Amino acid sequence: MKKILIAPSILSADFSDLQKDISMIENAGADWLHIDVMDGHFVPNITIGPLVIKNIRKHSKLFFDVHLMITNPEKYWENFQDAGADAIVFHQEVLCNKQKLITDIKSAGLKAGISIKPNTPVETILPLLPFIDIVLIMTVEPGFGGQSFMDEVLPKITTLRKIMDNDKYNFLIEVDGGINLDTAKKCFSAGADVLVSGNYIFLSDNPVKVLQELKSIN
Ligand code: DX5
Ligand code: ZN
Repeated sequence: MKKILIAPSILSADFSDLQKDISMIENAGADWLHIDVMDGHFVPNITIGPLVIKNIRKHSKLFFDVHLMITNPEKYWENFQDAGADAIVFHQEVLCNKQKLITDIKSAGLKAGISIKPNTPVETILPLLPFIDIVLIMTVEPGFGGQSFMDEVLPKITTLRKIMDNDKYNFLIEVDGGINLDTAKKCFSAGADVLVSGNYIFLSDNPVKVLQELKSIN
């Protein structure tokens, strides 16, 4: 049976001691580490850049899933490669040559991902699907952790799963925003492969237990 991958989002971790929180979730069986990069332009919030990623890279062997919520991914992605990213996920809504960007990222030996905001239809990324490694479906408006899951986005997961199965594409479907045990089950049933979770894990009384519960959904 298909196993779900869980990618805790460090946006909700303790930024005064990232090493402690990352070790905790790594030891508890996290599959990926989701790292939210925001530029205050593509989204109304500013988070971290390559310098922080480079430093946490020294302390973790996790797969670094770098979610670029920035306006110019083509200009900056190599800085994130140098910092130790394993996957570079950028947004469909930015203006750049996405086909070239995917090729460049993959040629560098990294996984390439495309993300769509809640109001962006799956149809807009159809031409990219044969080339992409990850599709990241946003189930909140990007910019902040701790928002409520938008149920109306669920059909996009089902649609993508159908397209992948019919056309024999080979990307992972990742879902980001408002994931808790209840919404995780809905996403898994709809066909998700990877679930990002921030507040639900890091703000709980027992992050290790919560992570293990998420990992065991089926
Ligand atoms: C939002 C970010 C998410 C966020 C998820 O723009 O892309 O990764 O950290 O946090 P929760 O799980 O709290 O919604
Ligand atoms: Zn994210």
